[in-house]
Amino acid sequence: MVQRQLPNPVELLELMKFKKPELDGRKRRLDAALTIDDLRLIAKRRTPKAAFDYTDGAAEGELSLTRARQAFQDVEFHPGILRPAPDVDTSVEILGGPSALPFGIAPTGFTRLMQTEGEVAGAGAAAAAGIPFTLSTLGTTSIEGVKAANPHGRNWFQLYVMRDREISYELARRASASGFDTLQFTVDTPVAGARLRDKRNGFSIPPQLTLGTIINAIPRPWWWFDFLTTPKLEFASLSATGGTVGELLDAAMDPTISYDDLAVIRDIWPGKIVIKGVQNVEDSVRLRDEGVDGIVLSNHGGRQLDRAPIPFHLLPEVRRAVGDDFTVMIDTGIMNGADIVAAVALGADFTLIGRAYLYGLMAGGRQGVDRTIAILRSEIERTMRLLGVSSLAELEPGHVTQLTRLVPVARAAAEARTH
Ligand SMILES: Cc1cc2nc3c(=O)[nH]c(=O)nc-3n(C[C@H](O)[C@H](O)[C@H](O)COP(=O)(O)O)c2cc1C
Repeated sequence: MVQRQLPNPVELLELMKFKKPELDGRKRRLDAALTIDDLRLIAKRRTPKAAFDYTDGAAEGELSLTRARQAFQDVEFHPGILRPAPDVDTSVEILGGPSALPFGIAPTGFTRLMQTEGEVAGAGAAAAAGIPFTLSTLGTTSIEGVKAANPHGRNWFQLYVMRDREISYELARRASASGFDTLQFTVDTPVAGARLRDKRNGFSIPPQLTLGTIINAIPRPWWWFDFLTTPKLEFASLSATGGTVGELLDAAMDPTISYDDLAVIRDIWPGKIVIKGVQNVEDSVRLRDEGVDGIVLSNHGGRQLDRAPIPFHLLPEVRRAVGDDFTVMIDTGIMNGADIVAAVALGADFTLIGRAYLYGLMAGGRQGVDRTIAILRSEIERTMRLLGVSSLAELEPGHVTQLTRLVPVARAAAEARTH
């Protein structure tokens, strides 16, 4: 028999402690986002389709991106038990300077298209979090504008070598003069990848108004208000416009870049030089031997070659081949702080986030990027605690198994023979 009594009004009152409603709509929206995927959904609701798809999409069938994300999900962690890690230290030394977290913001072109605050929001959030911010050659905020948004923190500059070399070199000189400490030389873009969503959406730069865009704009008034009431959206460092992003890239990029360009860049750039877009072991070893300061294993977030190697799968082999002292960074597919922890365990010195940052930006400008960083930070800290490590240096390959759904058949067979 259940024992019953009359309801006690005092007990009922205790239950009725309502939270003060959050009146700031942006804050309410962002606080409700617990994962980067949540931010992505908010971003999708608030951003015109063409701009969202330009960010969210990848090349051809988008297999490079889907597989890269899947590879991070196909991680099995191996925690140590009864190893208390009450305080975790997430800071690292990277390329001669500190970062409070093991990730930085990747270079992205045309960032003010996603949300009008663009790079200023990214650089400001990076400054507040103590992590590096990378400005793209195709950025929509000037080198000096980024420096003003992140005056005391670390700024990195991403270089595309263009047909008109002098334009590229001049940008590098300007970034160096503004105190940017690292140059990321992107090498995976001899021609633009086929971004089919952009083609289907008729997306062009500058954006064109069509009947479809106008209908799509109706539920997204704030994006359009920002777009129409803030300075014109254009490349900060290039004058090229007209056509799709792919057509612009093809017109601007030099498909004949080679190791000779590296020598020239070295003359121009006094700081650290990192090659972004490395996709095999041989190139990694060669670049180490050429004396660059580091590499980024990346397939450009799946926006260039589709069915490209999965950077996260390359990582252990590359680390073994280049040794412990060479800086290896990784990007493509990072959506969770646990992805970053897994990458560090398997030998990455540092990681970069592209879309995770842009989803935050589209979801809520500067505060949205702050939210992205906070979500990743808490996921990193929690994963480290649950693994029983208190510093990133304690992470080791034994903490992670990469499940083999997407491993090349030949390699999987060879591994099976050796076990
Ligand atoms: C919208 C967008 C624009 C990008 N623009 C550039 C660029 O101008 N230069 C560059 O080197 N990489 C660019 N990238 C690639 C990123 O630097 C990074 O490699 C990629 O986003 C990492 O994958 P993730 O988005 O899954 O984190 C861009 C990526 C996105 C999503």
